[in-house]
Amino acid sequence: MHMPNNGKRILVTGGAGYIGSILVTRLLDAGYKVIILDKLMFGVDPLKHFLKNPNPNLAVIVGDIQIEDDVNRAVENADAVIHLAAIVGDPACAADSELAVNVNFNATVRLADICKKHKIRRFVFASTCSVYGMGKTGILTEDAEVNPVSLYAETRLYGERGILSLADRNFSPTLLRLGTLFGLSPRMRFDIIINYLTQKAVREKKISIFGGDQWRPLLHVADAARAFQVAMEGPLEKVENQIFNVGLANLQIKEIGQIIKQNIPEAEVHVLDKFEDKRSYNVSFEKIETILQYKAENAIEVGIKEIADALKDGVITDPTDKIYYNHYAC
Ligand SMILES: NC(=O)c1ccc[n+]([C@@H]2O[C@H](COP(=O)([O-])OP(=O)(O)OC[C@H]3O[C@@H](n4cnc5c(N)ncnc54)[C@H](O)[C@@H]3O)[C@@H](O)[C@H]2O)c1
Repeated sequence: MHMPNNGKRILVTGGAGYIGSILVTRLLDAGYKVIILDKLMFGVDPLKHFLKNPNPNLAVIVGDIQIEDDVNRAVENADAVIHLAAIVGDPACAADSELAVNVNFNATVRLADICKKHKIRRFVFASTCSVYGMGKTGILTEDAEVNPVSLYAETRLYGERGILSLADRNFSPTLLRLGTLFGLSPRMRFDIIINYLTQKAVREKKISIFGGDQWRPLLHVADAARAFQVAMEGPLEKVENQIFNVGLANLQIKEIGQIIKQNIPEAEVHVLDKFEDKRSYNVSFEKIETILQYKAENAIEVGIKEIADALKDGVITDPTDKIYYNHYAC
């Protein structure tokens, strides 16, 4: 098989995470050499495929992006970096705000600075559409005003700004603002809306939707992984110092409930008035489509079906296990 990328070494921080564990396989399949730097907050299970089938093109460094020696060791041999390691989600950041600020902001900007010193020009950062927050009308492009309403979103936004402030002729970061993810991954998460509601619908045959009018941009986890590869490989002049929104579609929470009902008809859907999560935003994905010809492919139904099948087939036995919920690890 022709391996066009043979020899290029990609450091993936957080490579054992929900996105990372898919992205790493994708990069290896594309012929890259991959270095994972991850502190394995959710155990080694997401990498068990590689333990069973060791891959000479994969190196795993169990380490912490807050520790400079770990970062230096990981960065030393890398040609490009995809930075995913983070304390992810509002509840996880609220559970340990000091850790969240340290990892998501301080260690993130330091990592970018170390990459710059190592003359690693390509640096792709995982940000989030949560930076748009609430109270915005119309379709939000990358130039829209931001309004983060949680510590998580703030740490991602300040991370973005810190990374962009380092940009120069030798350091050309690309920032992806991802929608809320869904779908199956070797490191499963059930603390994100579609995955959470799907497991409830399958197990309890009943789901409750709070509010329902809030808008969310959504994206399948495999499409997210592909976006990182596309951004990393994109022509430098098109991706350097750029922010791209990445998503499949914007849906209201109540529509998500309807789609789950269509796919798991035995489940009842209740829409309740009260809701605490105030985030609502409707995001444009035109820039990445126009500039990088990237379009998300996997429909919401695909993610629902994958998860329902994994539960029915016993691939996942207990989706209420704390390992699937980020805030328990903090
Ligand atoms: N999942 C989503 O819906 C979503 C949406 C938008 C953006 N993102 C962003 O994508 C990235 C990855 O998210 P995910 O869903 O894969 O998260 P995840 O929690 O599944 O994975 C994060 C990984 O980072 C590792 N990690 C955490 N702190 C570390 C540290 N100090 N040093 C080394 N490793 C560390 C964890 O062990 C874990 O494997 C994050 O930057 C997140 O902000 C995710």
